[in-house]
Amino acid sequence: MPPPFRQLDCNSRANRGRLACMITATVSAARLTALLDGLPAGRPAYARLAEAVRSLIVDGRIELGARLPSERDLAEALGASRTTVTRAYDLLRERGFLASRRGSGSVAMLPVPGGASPSAGILRPYEEGDDEGIIDLTCAALRAPVGIEDAYQTALEVLPRYLAGAGYTTVGLPELRAALAEQYAARGLATNPDQILITSGAVIATLLAVRSLVQPGQRVLIEDPTFPNTAAALRSAGLRLTPAPVEPRGWDVDHVASVIRRGRPSVAVLIPDFHNPTGALMSDADRHVLAEAMASASTTAVVDETVCSIVLDPVAMPAPMGAHAPSAISVGSSSKSHWGGLRTGWIRTPGPVGDALIAQRVAGDGGAALLEQLVLLHLLRTDRVDADRGRLADLRLARDAAVAALRDRLPDARFVVPVGGLSLWVELPGLSAGDVALHARERGLLLAAGPWFAIGRGLGSFLRLPYVRPPAVMADAVARLAGAVEDVRRGAPTSARPGLTPLVA
Ligand SMILES: Cc1ncc(COP(=O)(O)O)c(C=O)c1O
Repeated sequence: MPPPFRQLDCNSRANRGRLACMITATVSAARLTALLDGLPAGRPAYARLAEAVRSLIVDGRIELGARLPSERDLAEALGASRTTVTRAYDLLRERGFLASRRGSGSVAMLPVPGGASPSAGILRPYEEGDDEGIIDLTCAALRAPVGIEDAYQTALEVLPRYLAGAGYTTVGLPELRAALAEQYAARGLATNPDQILITSGAVIATLLAVRSLVQPGQRVLIEDPTFPNTAAALRSAGLRLTPAPVEPRGWDVDHVASVIRRGRPSVAVLIPDFHNPTGALMSDADRHVLAEAMASASTTAVVDETVCSIVLDPVAMPAPMGAHAPSAISVGSSSKSHWGGLRTGWIRTPGPVGDALIAQRVAGDGGAALLEQLVLLHLLRTDRVDADRGRLADLRLARDAAVAALRDRLPDARFVVPVGGLSLWVELPGLSAGDVALHARERGLLLAAGPWFAIGRGLGSFLRLPYVRPPAVMADAVARLAGAVEDVRRGAPTSARPGLTPLVA
């Protein structure tokens, strides 16, 4: 089989160096000196400097693919010797944090299994055969926040206190349950720690919650489109899914309410806060209508609030669904608020966590990892995400760049600009988005097309465009997308085959 990703746009620019298409920014010597707050104290100086730069790369304050200043410029700006900087860069290179090519300077990267690759991105799992210059937008997820390494260090420091125990936290670490209960209270939903169960993410949390309520073979109402991994998890548990449509502008709640009243499903799985993939935010009035319909049909809402903290524009956030529907079970996760690598989520039940849910937990993963619970606890206590406001500001810029590029390059494309969340839900009227995605793959752009998110058939002309890469990369992604649209319009053949998308998140 031919290797995928043959016809990369960046190949046409090969004479500018293979790295060039990944470089999105240059960090000047003055900027790096400011980020470092001068030459780090301690000896040996080169090792301290390398460590400080490594930290900035790991934290994301130096963007992956950004070009670092020349050794001479940095030495001058820091008032350090050239040897110190040269040795620091050598060390970073050796450890996989810098790639240097003649003519391209030194470029920030992260080490990857199997050796150094300048295309290393924290959103994309390393895969054998990956080529350079790929823009992978299959995952709508962010880099780790500033401070994540500190949080891991702190967690390691307190870990010994827990080592005398067996390490199983069946319902979750008490301190973390308490911290999450406080968060709910701050959002207007009074919560006791005994209402919280910690999980290893939102998908498993949703599955556990639903399975605690219904038996295999029963019907569960779910939005269409929806987050595909949740639908897959519910199907694999033998549940039958009843779709409730979500339009690009959001819910037709009267219609959804009538589906609930007619079908009387035991459970409705909803994503009212920056719905994935549409980005829609359900208003308080609409939440109220649905809550009434669910109450009359004895339907329990399982509400996935994974994306609720990704607020990009000034907006008065509606009350949590649990405030409208007191019987609702809420599901949350640190995957979007903090980092997917933490694999830590949670469930909030209306009363103390009950036996049915605990039984599901015991029959499943048995508990969430202790170290990651400690890391999340530290992040919540130190409010590190707020400290990393830059992440949301970057996301806003990336969204705006994607929107501007779409309007410019694909004026026929239809989409609603979301006020929060991580992606645009783009309709390409009259085109098969699946075909466009295949051609985009050949141009080095990986995207998930609408049918991935559909419960039944349909959504064939939609695709999800997560704006999780820097503005310049988003503009490049849309240019590749426009090229792919052109390919489809003129009936160009493609050797790409569907089914290669590894994970849609
Ligand atoms: C609505 C929604 N639910 C769940 C997830 C996955 O969460 P987790 O990684 O915690 O399972 C995502 C994103 O990946 C999402 O957007």
